[in-house]
Amino acid sequence: MVFNLSFRFKIEQTARKKESQIILALDFPFEKFEKREGLFTKAEHVLNAVHPYICAVKFNHHLVLPLGVFDGVQKLVKIAHDLGLVTIMDCKVNDIGATNETIAEYYYAAGFDALIANPFIGWEEGLKPIFDVARKQQRGVILLVYMSHKGAKEGYGQTIIDAETGKEMPQYVSFAKKALKMDADGVVVGATYPEKIRAVYSILGNRTPIYSPGIGAQGGEIKSALEAGARYLIVGRAIAQSDKPAEAAKQIKNLAKR
Ligand code: XMP
Repeated sequence: MVFNLSFRFKIEQTARKKESQIILALDFPFEKFEKREGLFTKAEHVLNAVHPYICAVKFNHHLVLPLGVFDGVQKLVKIAHDLGLVTIMDCKVNDIGATNETIAEYYYAAGFDALIANPFIGWEEGLKPIFDVARKQQRGVILLVYMSHKGAKEGYGQTIIDAETGKEMPQYVSFAKKALKMDADGVVVGATYPEKIRAVYSILGNRTPIYSPGIGAQGGEIKSALEAGARYLIVGRAIAQSDKPAEAAKQIKNLAKR
């Protein structure tokens, strides 16, 4: 296994330099196709306003679908990089290996530093091709371990018989152990479940950082997520859709620092 520190190192360095562990989810509500240029302007405006208070930007389908990866989104990725920010594509890759490889190639070609993938697909002909592309290009792969929404318990929260060990354990515990074995660059655990963050942190320690979405709009709390072991907090609507994004980001950054 090639030990990859480059993405982890890059985001950690940026977080330290900017004294912020906040990742902005650059998400906006649906806009009609004719108005999609307005989305680009809004995204650019928010990035310029909040960049002093964040360490990274996470993109999702909210911008990829209306703007296109190589039209609008690539330009926004460049703007984010020029502002000294790390970029993550939240595409939750979840297909067969050959397709995953192509998805990863395109997103990394657009400039993304890391992407998010779903460990339900397994390693052989699933995650492995993504890690192969990522390692060649020194990019990151972050794995879902326990999602932030209510229905997460139906999949990530199930008790399973682990295929490798034959032992009974929660699905997310098995995913956390696999993330360590695969040398993933990070795992996602919802801030809405601090007890799950704590359980995952007890497996990963400081070797694999925990990325925690669900702060604010979904009801997750900064203090409990950080105390349980989250390293980065992903915040979307509470910043991007605030009337005053810079003030919102500054406040969240300072709350996290305390
Ligand atoms: P809000 O507005 O709720 O936005 O602060 C959160 C952002 O993060 C995404 N999200 C997740 N992504 N695993 C992920 O990889 C998760 O468990 C998860 N929960 C929320 C959400 O789509 C939005 O972009």
